Amino acid sequence: MTPGRGAEIVRTPLWDWPVRVIHWSFAALIPALWWTAENGEMGWHTSIGTVLMQLLVIRVLWGFVGGSTARFSSFVRGPRAVFAHLRSPREEPSVGHNPAGGWSVLALLGLMALQVSLGLVAGDPDDGTTGPLNHLVSSTTAGQATELHGAVFYLILAMIALHLAAIVYYRVIKRENLIAPMITGSKPLPASADGLKKAPVWRLIACVVVAWLTGWVVWVGAA
Ligand code: HEM
Repeated sequence: MTPGRGAEIVRTPLWDWPVRVIHWSFAALIPALWWTAENGEMGWHTSIGTVLMQLLVIRVLWGFVGGSTARFSSFVRGPRAVFAHLRSPREEPSVGHNPAGGWSVLALLGLMALQVSLGLVAGDPDDGTTGPLNHLVSSTTAGQATELHGAVFYLILAMIALHLAAIVYYRVIKRENLIAPMITGSKPLPASADGLKKAPVWRLIACVVVAWLTGWVVWVGAA
């Protein structure tokens, strides 16, 4: 959606609170996962990793049934739209993720999901902590998963660096503050702009139940 120029500016709802709470939880949990792994706090590492997994389940489901700006269908666009956006980005403040940003959101979510999946089977049962589903794979597979679990972390770091660089670029070059709307949920936009269309709370409750069940199955599977 491209708001017009010269229109009356009004504060418009943009991100619903599940998107914001999940986002800032990611921002807190990723450093916590790094710190716990570095300091051998593997009990905390697997617990926090499980919470991250459950948040990812909620965010992915919310991408199909959540508020309008959370939905993948509102921001995942084909390569043509991405190249068109990169060649001639709009001057107006954007509503939701732009076509290039949409793919970076998918990359961040995808890398975190890959990292969680590797962690579930990683580890060596004879030597330290294992992920809750480690017993379902051979020791060779678990060893490879453990190595990849270390390597994918650096990919996540690179994506986060790109993510933060894009936010600084928008602030400094385009004079657009992306951080404030991710905190408050709203943004000053022309009155004609389509803002967030919220989803009913029962859908969020359903997503939370599925996420909780996912954690339960993973840990019962570990028993
Ligand atoms: C450290 C781990 C971080 C991860 C994994 C992460 C991940 C993400 C993801 C997945 C989104 C898409 C939101 C959604 O639709 O659900 C997003 C958006 C956003 N993030 Fe982060 N983020 C991180 C850190 C940060 C930090 C530290 C900041 C600010 C200083 C930040 C600022 C933002 C903003 C402003 C947006 C909205 C961008 C837009 O308007 O299109 N993020 N982030």
